[in-house]
Amino acid sequence: MRQNKFESYDDYVDAQRVTTCRKMQRAYKRCFAVDSVVDNIVEYHCDVADKPVYGLCHGVRYGEELDKFEKKFGGGVWIGTEIVSELCDDVRIFNYDFSWVKDGWIGNFDLIYSNSFDHARYPRKVAKAWISCLSPSGRLYVEWSPWHNKLGGRSAKADCFAASADEYMKIFQKAGVVEHRLEFKLKNYSKYTFVIRRG
Ligand SMILES: C[S@@+](CC[C@H](N)C(=O)[O-])C[C@H]1O[C@@H](n2cnc3c(N)ncnc32)[C@H](O)[C@@H]1O
Repeated sequence: MRQNKFESYDDYVDAQRVTTCRKMQRAYKRCFAVDSVVDNIVEYHCDVADKPVYGLCHGVRYGEELDKFEKKFGGGVWIGTEIVSELCDDVRIFNYDFSWVKDGWIGNFDLIYSNSFDHARYPRKVAKAWISCLSPSGRLYVEWSPWHNKLGGRSAKADCFAASADEYMKIFQKAGVVEHRLEFKLKNYSKYTFVIRRG
């Protein structure tokens, strides 16, 4: 596992803001949470648990994944965290660092999803924080692709943590129970969604 170091918390937040705003200036609005991955999560979740009532997505930028989950599950209350304040409405997308656990979130979410774990400054702490917010039958879904194993350089420090799929597995095995690893085979590589529940 390789990590970028930040001089301070402000330095970390600035790095996130710079990268996210640069993507927005380029009108780069594509949501990384693609439909095929969301579909597989929905299918898996319906097999192992009830339809989620409360869903939380971490590091959501425009929050498109919230719409996708709501639509595909046919309802539920879906909220997201986002560190760049300009993107937040504090109704659905909260200007909140996903490493913090908000009062009232512990044990409350039936489904938590993120494709932004590589933006965690302290991955092990974040893994524990996310799992602590799961309801007793809740599941956490964390995406990994080969890009999550690339450390951002000076101009892209926001991708501050790089790890292999095996390293993701170890982090989440220590923090909770890794129930499954969904595989998505693409033309030249595979990506995975780790399914985690409370220990
Ligand atoms: C790779 S983008 C993914 C955006 C979105 N999930 C998607 O699929 O398009 C990562 C997002 O996480 C946000 N982010 C980074 N660190 C964060 C943190 N500690 N807490 C909350 N959001 C964070 C970034 O600002 C950015 O919008």
